[in-house]
Amino acid sequence: MKNTDLIPEIANDMTPRKVRDSQTETHAIVHPDNTNALHNAFGGYLMGLMDVAACVVAFNHAGRKVNTISIDGVRFFRPATLGTILNIHASLNRAFNTSMEIGLKITETDPVNKCELPIAHGYFTFVAIGEDGRPTAVAPVEPETEEEKRRYEQALVRREARIALGKKLG
Ligand SMILES: CC(C)(COP(=O)(O)OP(=O)(O)OC[C@H]1O[C@@H](n2cnc3c(N)ncnc32)[C@H](O)[C@@H]1OP(=O)(O)O)[C@@H](O)C(=O)NCCC(=O)NCCS
Repeated sequence: MKNTDLIPEIANDMTPRKVRDSQTETHAIVHPDNTNALHNAFGGYLMGLMDVAACVVAFNHAGRKVNTISIDGVRFFRPATLGTILNIHASLNRAFNTSMEIGLKITETDPVNKCELPIAHGYFTFVAIGEDGRPTAVAPVEPETEEEKRRYEQALVRREARIALGKKLG
């Protein structure tokens, strides 16, 4: 499937959908050409991985072309060194009218303690694009778990903050 494809049965169905219907987990390895002088992954490389994973989630939910409109809340917690196997988690926090906030988390797995260590996270907002090239409505999302419900509520707070900041700065 391509991000240019239209999936009519998804795109035209405004029934609320589950978070698990669109979420994704991908992996990548930090290669030499992804690193800086400190032999750690470039922030831009990590953001690129997050953007692609977020695009997959937005496309899965919208069933039509999607476009990144904003990125915020990006935080790098620890360096990803050369050779690190990265886990990229992407999940729809909330769908508004034409836009969707996707939460991204990059981790590496601690093989001894079998836990995931945070490397970076961020919020990517995508807009569904209609046949006329303009933003078009997407179905709502229905959070199920406590964590999904928390993300759903917090996504609204961040949206209001984005709108308020945009108005304040003009
Ligand atoms: C995406 C695009 C078509 C949207 O058109 P627009 O006229 O700017 O958007 P609108 O003002 O109609 O807003 C569309 C949605 O984006 C939201 N939005 C606008 N500014 C935003 C921001 N700074 N952060 C988050 N969401 C934002 C609006 O709230 C609206 O969402 P809603 O319908 O759910 O309320 C246009 O901005 C664009 O083409 N941008 C460039 C995209 C691009 O090249 N991305 C990089 C490569 S993918």
